Amino acid sequence: MKASFALTAIAALAAKASASCFSERLGYPCCSGNNVVYTDSDGQWGVENGNWCGIGGSTSQSAGCWSQALGYPCCTSTSIPVYTDGDGDWGVENGNWCGIQKGGSSSGGSSSSGGNVTPGEQYTITGNPFSGVKFFINPYYTAEVDGAIAQMSDSSLIAKAKKMKEYSNAIWLDTIKNMNEWLEKNLKTALAEQSGSTKVLTVFVVYDLPGRDCHALASNGELLANDSDAARYKSEYIDVIEEKLKTYKSQPVVLIVEPDSLANMVTNIESTPACAASEKYYLDAHAYLIKKLGVLPHVAMYLDIGHAFWLGWDDNREKAGKVYSKAIASGSPGKVRGFASNVSNYTPWEDPTLSRGPDTEWNSCPDEKRYIQAMYKDFTSAGIKSVYFIEDTSRNGHKTDRTHPGEWCNQTGVGIGARPQANPVSGMDYLDAFYWVKPLGESDGTSDESAKRFDGYCGHATAMKPAPEAGQWFQKHFEQGLENANPPL
Ligand code: BGC
Repeated sequence: MKASFALTAIAALAAKASASCFSERLGYPCCSGNNVVYTDSDGQWGVENGNWCGIGGSTSQSAGCWSQALGYPCCTSTSIPVYTDGDGDWGVENGNWCGIQKGGSSSGGSSSSGGNVTPGEQYTITGNPFSGVKFFINPYYTAEVDGAIAQMSDSSLIAKAKKMKEYSNAIWLDTIKNMNEWLEKNLKTALAEQSGSTKVLTVFVVYDLPGRDCHALASNGELLANDSDAARYKSEYIDVIEEKLKTYKSQPVVLIVEPDSLANMVTNIESTPACAASEKYYLDAHAYLIKKLGVLPHVAMYLDIGHAFWLGWDDNREKAGKVYSKAIASGSPGKVRGFASNVSNYTPWEDPTLSRGPDTEWNSCPDEKRYIQAMYKDFTSAGIKSVYFIEDTSRNGHKTDRTHPGEWCNQTGVGIGARPQANPVSGMDYLDAFYWVKPLGESDGTSDESAKRFDGYCGHATAMKPAPEAGQWFQKHFEQGLENANPPL
């Protein structure tokens, strides 16, 4: 996912021809805009008129801007390094990663100690992890939004897009590589932002199960449902997450665990062979990760529970009580704080126009509020000890055009929902937060029918097209989400 900005982003760039750029010597023209879609050791690449083009001048490190070759600007001040890796020292300016130039050195390589932040005393979450903390702003998302702004000309839309950079969203660890690249870097940056008693909360999505997305195709993952990939999930993914979290012990961390997986175990084992084949791996992986990560005092975990129009029906909720309580018990002594609902979905928080009846296919929970209220009761009666919820409000502010609530792919009419906040609804003490788990503007799945991960839902009438692969930047989707934001941005 997160590797590039959308290839479709070729229009409406502020046209300003560069005098020269690195790509000319490689036989490619210079870009007229600055929308980076790919970065390699030569430099930053864009696509214009269907052709690769180069952005910016020489990427030679002697220019001092080693980070530009990786798609990030140079820091303007000699900021304090917040992170160091094999590329060099990283700072954060205006919410975006930047490379710190080495005084007089031509090397971008790492020679420093790894930044001057060191974790302090063990922090222990007591109660709601979203309460009384500062929410970490993800520099990767800020950079995506900057890329989106570069493609806009409407000033009121630009103003809305800029506001998006003030809000927090989750960081998806959707491959082993992305986990290695983003987990520690963001933990360290959040640590550097902590001052005094104000803690900075980072939210990560653990998302790399063997046989991932067993009932759909759009987000099938890198690991397959077999023993050797299940072993890799443990040793190369969960164990590494554990090690990093143990290091960064003085700050709060929330983990959203494996979207869609247990919900598929509730409803799709009989109907979908891929889900039947994944079952033992999903369950074993949950036991493993809860045991390992659920014992860390500064980490709070929420298991994904689909959304109102998935597990909301009475029989599904009842079955869910059994599946989830068993999964949690299997991870003992690890603990789970609660459950995440509506991740990457579009179901409104409240929809007074709907009630149980033929229109809702007799679902007694036809909106997220009623779903969470019912789940609270059912999970408590199923014997689950810690029953708290978070609600993904990144895309549920506006009723989409979907005519069936089972539609989940890039829905037209999308609008950003309530802003991330702790304890958002009085009288629902068990609702820890509204939070943006799915970053608005990142696609749900490709509409390219020839792609391996093409899922029929992404070709349906209310799915926006043409859509890039899941996780990649989808400018139109982002712009619609801004326009329809509720409350407005
Ligand atoms: C994709 C992931 C991506 C996430 C957030 C999922 O649908 O499969 O690759 O990281 O969305 O955009």
